[in-house]
Amino acid sequence: MSAPSPAQLLDARKVIVCCGAGGVGKTTVSASLALAAARRGKRVLVVTIDPSKRLAEALGVDRNPPEPVALAADRLAKLGVQAPGSLSAWMLDPQLVSDTVVRERSRTPDEAERLLTNPIYRNVSAMIAGMQEYTAVEALHAFVGDDQYDLVVLDTPPSRNALRFLDAPDRVGAFLDRRIFNLFVPGEGGVIRRVASRLIEKVLDTTFGEDTRRDLQVFFELFSQILGHLNKNQHDMRAFFQSEAVSFLLVTSPAREAVTEAFFFEKKTREELGLHLGGYVLNRSLAWAADLPMPDTLRRPVDAPAALGRALGRLAPLAQAEAQLARTHADLASELRNRAGDHGFAWVLPRLPDGAGALEALIGLADALMTDGLAASPAGGPTTA
Ligand SMILES: Nc1ncnc2c1ncn2[C@@H]1O[C@H](COP(=O)(O)OP(=O)(O)OP(=O)(O)O)[C@@H](O)[C@H]1O
Ligand SMILES: [Mg+2]
Repeated sequence: MSAPSPAQLLDARKVIVCCGAGGVGKTTVSASLALAAARRGKRVLVVTIDPSKRLAEALGVDRNPPEPVALAADRLAKLGVQAPGSLSAWMLDPQLVSDTVVRERSRTPDEAERLLTNPIYRNVSAMIAGMQEYTAVEALHAFVGDDQYDLVVLDTPPSRNALRFLDAPDRVGAFLDRRIFNLFVPGEGGVIRRVASRLIEKVLDTTFGEDTRRDLQVFFELFSQILGHLNKNQHDMRAFFQSEAVSFLLVTSPAREAVTEAFFFEKKTREELGLHLGGYVLNRSLAWAADLPMPDTLRRPVDAPAALGRALGRLAPLAQAEAQLARTHADLASELRNRAGDHGFAWVLPRLPDGAGALEALIGLADALMTDGLAASPAGGPTTA
């Protein structure tokens, strides 16, 4: 089997996960993939993390709703989606998601409030990111099970740890070692534990002050409840994400650091986590322009004014620099294609002109995807393979 086209991938998979370095366009590409699938008549859900206000407005949905929102009919018509195709979006803010998990999983509203206002909880951003990743995945697992959508596209946060929910099954538990919990969490326990706890309290009191020690204690006590729940579904989820139904896409920009990050994800997805790597998406690329004619090769009428010749002469260095960049991007696309292997792909999406509205951008990129993810110009002009 050769590498699938974007259309084939969108038709064959139930879940597509977009990973990659910060700012490369994961959220934009996720939304464009979802739109392309909806335009093919699929019922699609896109879960985005920290989407821009612009993108939310373009789709006509709020950020941070408690559940996915189906796009209104007039919006779908603008985006070129026709029945039976549909598009729902769930645009998540990490902090709010994390707070929701705390509310849902706490035993009482009072307990939830104590954790939410706990200074340690509010300051441990890594934990918040972890909870949010986990929640997105847990929700996604439920959606896939209930057959409401043909395809779910999942955006991930800008973090090397975006896939950490799939690390070792006991990863979440190991996150904060249970032995440490046990010492902090008040309650039953043998003499040794009580003495040890008191000792630790004393040390902490002297080091941080009593208030901080109490905050820590409350934090550990409440958070341990939540971790217990998170651990429960870990095995199921891991098995599901390793199945053929799920494809991971590595989004990158042409910047070297972003590409290096994508290679890091490649190693992690394939070797450590045993996930199905679909391929690469080279976003914001100028590769489509690699074969455009240079100004000095354009045919000019013999009677063209001398000023035109001079102007073109001045433009030449600029055009050469741009052409060089386009060639570098085209080479990078080939490198990614080789790396993706026989069954993988490297789709190339154009850099859209500055100032393109979010709606235009989505439509432009969805169109580019449907030209098989090969180099497509922003205006749908010349293409190169
Ligand atoms: N192909 C493109 N052409 C032009 N601009 C783009 C393109 N793709 C994305 N952008 C713009 O780049 C910015 C970052 O995109 P986006 O938010 O999708 O990246 P991200 O990888 O999700 O970022 P983060 O890592 O912060 O979540 C946005 O302003 C978006 O509109
Ligand atoms: Mg994003």
